[in-house]
Amino acid sequence: MRGVLIVANWKMNILKEKARTFCQDFMPLVENIYKTDIVICPPFTSLHVLKAELAGSKIRIGAQNLFWAENGAYTGEISAQMLVDAGCNYVIIGHSERRQVMGENDEIINRKLQRALSCGLIPILCVGETLQQRQASMAKQVVKDQLSNCLQGFKLGERELVIAYEPVWAIGTGVNASSEDAQDMIGFIRDNLSEIIDGKTAAATRILYGGSVKGNNIEELMGKDDIDGALVGGASLQPVAFAEIVRLGQNGK
Ligand code: PGA
Repeated sequence: MRGVLIVANWKMNILKEKARTFCQDFMPLVENIYKTDIVICPPFTSLHVLKAELAGSKIRIGAQNLFWAENGAYTGEISAQMLVDAGCNYVIIGHSERRQVMGENDEIINRKLQRALSCGLIPILCVGETLQQRQASMAKQVVKDQLSNCLQGFKLGERELVIAYEPVWAIGTGVNASSEDAQDMIGFIRDNLSEIIDGKTAAATRILYGGSVKGNNIEELMGKDDIDGALVGGASLQPVAFAEIVRLGQNGK
């Protein structure tokens, strides 16, 4: 019932011209993929390139961040409405790099989520524990707290939310969580959504795994009941590698 969703997170990589050739090379590679939703999240500076190149395709565009205010004196920030204006349907919120490097906390993330939803964007909320927290057997408590704080006061109604479970120790390290551990945590996230929002939302919400997803591990991850897709960083920078993940991800379901 929940369709597969594969999201590319280019992070702070790829200039305009490379973004253009990526789209031109990537589109034919996924022409025959019908059952999977594909989203690419480039840096802000290439959103317009993707909007032009992907027009008429089923590939959707996402941003990697937004600011929680509607508009005003916030030098350097980008609003939800600006993202809609630039052609975005999705936005990544609360990525661990933003939590760790930019000091974002759950309260800021909560505000950003509310703003994204109110403008019709589909937020991809990232949660996940550090290695230290996992080793101290705190992983579930950390993720539970992130969810309940970030989603505090939420009423989704008909609007869609995506969650990405990204253990911090698996991001960019080449060491992915085992499919069993990813399923265990993602099932736990679904149970929590049921408590925090409601059972219907929990059953309908797509929950992705992220952290060193590659062509050689996507099928096994996607074989698990609660894993609905992937948030892909490093391996999404090459059209062939990303297309392979999309294709194998669909096979896995
Ligand atoms: P990675 O990044 O695939 O390079 O580990 C994933 C992410 O940070 O979203």
